[in-house]
Amino acid sequence: MKILGTGSALPKHTVTNDMLSEIVDTNDEWITTRTGIKSRQIITTERFEELAALAAQRAIDAAGLVPEDIDFIICHNVCNAYVTPSLAALIQHILGIKGPNCPTMDLNSACAGFIYGLEICEAFLQTGRAKKILFVCAEEVTRMVDWTQRETCVLFGDGAAAMVLGKGDNYLASKLTSTPMPEVIYYRLPCEPTPFETGEGIDTHIAMQLKGREVFRMAVTSAQKDIKDVVAKAGLQLEDIDHYLLHQANMRIVDAIKQNFDLPQERFHHNIEYRGNTSSASIPMLLDEKIREGVVKRGDLMVFNGFGAGFVTGAAVMRY
Ligand code: COA
Repeated sequence: MKILGTGSALPKHTVTNDMLSEIVDTNDEWITTRTGIKSRQIITTERFEELAALAAQRAIDAAGLVPEDIDFIICHNVCNAYVTPSLAALIQHILGIKGPNCPTMDLNSACAGFIYGLEICEAFLQTGRAKKILFVCAEEVTRMVDWTQRETCVLFGDGAAAMVLGKGDNYLASKLTSTPMPEVIYYRLPCEPTPFETGEGIDTHIAMQLKGREVFRMAVTSAQKDIKDVVAKAGLQLEDIDHYLLHQANMRIVDAIKQNFDLPQERFHHNIEYRGNTSSASIPMLLDEKIREGVVKRGDLMVFNGFGAGFVTGAAVMRY
């Protein structure tokens, strides 16, 4: 597998910490010191699926292709207003990709979704079932939190990232894990009532709940291990890797992970300061930003690492 082109798209509305302090009992100092976040983009009037399609179109343009060249669309998305059809099918419609020979599907592996999705794309490319996959990670996490809960609403932002993947030898190693711990992060939507369910033991709507300290600890511990394991699996040394692109959940998490490695610290990229946590979109948005800045160049070696609700983790080594 190799990356043929990347793209991303952001909502137009930027929300600073000071703006949040007018909504909940918080302040810039708390948010900055605990998370590193200064601002984030939040969906207002945009339609989510159009934002995701815009990122997709930019990735197709960057690959020098046209939408009709795509023969599989895979999206990662935790939650959006459409439970069905899939976000992938909506993007196919918006981009005007005619069927029926471009299958579409969505995945959900929380904030580790980019790594899980790469693995699925690799499988389809390896078997020859697809030649040009459009892979989109798009999230509107700010629609999952309770905006009266200062513990969660200050952490997140919205955004979309996409890439076109084709056959190649650049996907060098990967590692996925899942440890059943649904209580550390979860979000429940209500289903439609039926005449048959009794309601007993059934919670209705619960906005996102997270045990921040536990997630913090597990994220740092798993990332340190997953990164070492996946680099060794690729037959490489940690110092061979040019770029470390980690899930942007908290600047302190990124700092704690990188401090464990005796490496030039600037190889650990970050943009959480002005994006917030955008779940599965965070790593590919960061990658697209660094490619467009000319920081990540063809031939460079990259490590991706993510973690999230499940508790799931993943890491991959890839050459750009
Ligand atoms: N503004 C001001 N004060 C806040 C606040 C806010 N937005 N949110 C929480 N606080 C208060 C708490 O009420 C608590 O007050 P108390 O000491 O009087 O009880 C205090 O700040 C400390 O809260 P705590 O939760 O212990 O802070 P923390 O240092 O653990 O940081 C997170 C909290 C969420 C930033 C941190 O744990 C984290 O980043 N965790 C991982 C992120 C995550 O889970 N992401 C989702 C999955 S990828």
